[in-house]
Amino acid sequence: MNLITGCAGFIGFHLAKKLLIKKKTVIGIDSLDSYYSKDLKFTRLRILKKFKNFHFKKIDLKNFKLTYNFIKKKNINCIFHLAAQPGVRVSHKNPINTLNQNIISFINVIEIARIKNVKKFIYASSSSVYGETKVYPFTENDNKNTPISVYGASKFCNEILAKSYSKNFKMKCFGLRFFTVYGPYGRPDMAYYNFLDSLRNNKPIKVFNRGIMKRDFTYIDDVINGIIEVYNLKGKNKYEVLNIGKGKPDNLMDMINQLQKYYKKKFKIKYTNTIPNGDIKKTFSNTQKAKKLINWYPKTNLAEGIKNFVQWYKIYYGIKR
Ligand SMILES: NC(=O)c1ccc[n+]([C@@H]2O[C@H](COP(=O)([O-])OP(=O)(O)OC[C@H]3O[C@@H](n4cnc5c(N)ncnc54)[C@H](O)[C@@H]3O)[C@@H](O)[C@H]2O)c1
Repeated sequence: MNLITGCAGFIGFHLAKKLLIKKKTVIGIDSLDSYYSKDLKFTRLRILKKFKNFHFKKIDLKNFKLTYNFIKKKNINCIFHLAAQPGVRVSHKNPINTLNQNIISFINVIEIARIKNVKKFIYASSSSVYGETKVYPFTENDNKNTPISVYGASKFCNEILAKSYSKNFKMKCFGLRFFTVYGPYGRPDMAYYNFLDSLRNNKPIKVFNRGIMKRDFTYIDDVINGIIEVYNLKGKNKYEVLNIGKGKPDNLMDMINQLQKYYKKKFKIKYTNTIPNGDIKKTFSNTQKAKKLINWYPKTNLAEGIKNFVQWYKIYYGIKR
């Protein structure tokens, strides 16, 4: 059995679906928080519930007792801990919420993994653990890079905790640093999704730093393949932190142009010179370690990924054009 926390979320949903298609049993936990549209979370859950090997429980992982009581009699081989409060900007609007969600929940889940002797603990970290470095690409063992956002700090804290659990309790812990994951059933708070919402509602979009930003946009199917490779990884590795990023940053304006092209409508753009606190101008993943360790090669370019996203978006919102 496999446990996925945050299974009603964007990445958790796609991972659960992939494992269920592979005939694995998946236990999913999610608190169904209201950070963004619950409708989207319910839609994802409805799809997962069509599989008979999927078992869902609504739990807030901050509650150790409830979480432990639910899991204690289950024979779980692997935990994928994806539940979190994502997002840099929201971590500065409400830092205590991000810290509670991302640190207390993490401690509870890794502690349950220890008590239950779970064979593998795979958890979501983030490119945000790399601070404002000017050293590209971002490389896993570059210790000079430290987070500048509260969100990044919460994820860095997860990595430190996982390292100590792995060392002291001989647990296999894999931290995956995701880089701007996008695609169908995505997260409405992220720019690529949020921009289309504005376009649909005839509202202008705000583009920071006059659009001079780069992101290592990584398509969801590639990310899921990477997670599955880590899940299948045999061998002695006890503690690893791994970049899961495309390794080819794209200009923000290219992403905007692809959205316009496939949606077939022009954006009204309000440019600003500023960048929100904690945001950085460029993310760029070094993919060497993922290639070596799990033989992972992201395959989807931005045009293809955005095309798939826009196609899904139009169907989901019933847009005929
Ligand atoms: N999407 C990205 O680009 C990206 C990039 C870097 C890291 N990450 C990390 O990957 C993970 C998954 O991200 P996502 O994009 O799918 O986010 P998401 O918000 O879509 O999914 C997270 C899910 O976790 C649930 N959740 C939050 N707190 C919970 C709690 N206390 N108990 C139970 N459930 C809880 C939420 O209801 C949500 O459904 C997160 O840890 C995120 O920080 C994502």
